[in-house]
Amino acid sequence: MNKQNIIDHTLKARKNASAPYSKYKVGAALETLDGTVVYGCNVESKAYPTTLCAERVAIFSAISSGYKDFKWLSVATEDGAYPCGSCRQIIAEYLGDAPIFVINSRTMSLLETSIDKLLPHPFK
Ligand code: THU
Repeated sequence: MNKQNIIDHTLKARKNASAPYSKYKVGAALETLDGTVVYGCNVESKAYPTTLCAERVAIFSAISSGYKDFKWLSVATEDGAYPCGSCRQIIAEYLGDAPIFVINSRTMSLLETSIDKLLPHPFK
C-alpha cells in the first residue's frame, strides 16, 4: 500500500474518535497479511482511565476478528505524537517488527519508525 493510502485510511479512522474530554482525536490503522485494513480510534470514558487508545483499539479489533499477522500500523494525531507506553507494549507483542507510521494531520506528514526504536528491551 502506498503512503498516501496509509494517510487516507488513518485520517478516516481518526474521524471516528470519541474524545469529548481531551478533545484530542487519534486514529489508527493496520493492514493484515491478506490486505484487510482495520481501523481504530480513541474511545474516551467518563471514568477517565477506562479510555482506550486508538492503536490498541485497532490491534484488539484485528486480533478479535482472527487476524494474527500484520504488515504495518499507523497512528494519526494533530501533532504527530508517537504511541504511548501501553500501546508500545501491545505493539511489541502483536505487531512484531512491522513498520509503524506516525502521521501529523496538520502538516499531512508521515514518519516511519519501528518498535525497536520506540520500546527497546520489551517485556515479552
Ligand atoms: N491516546 C491514544 O489514542 N493513543 C496514544 O498512543 C496516546 C493517547 C488518546 C487517549 C486519550 O483519549 C487521548 O489520546 C488523550 O490522552
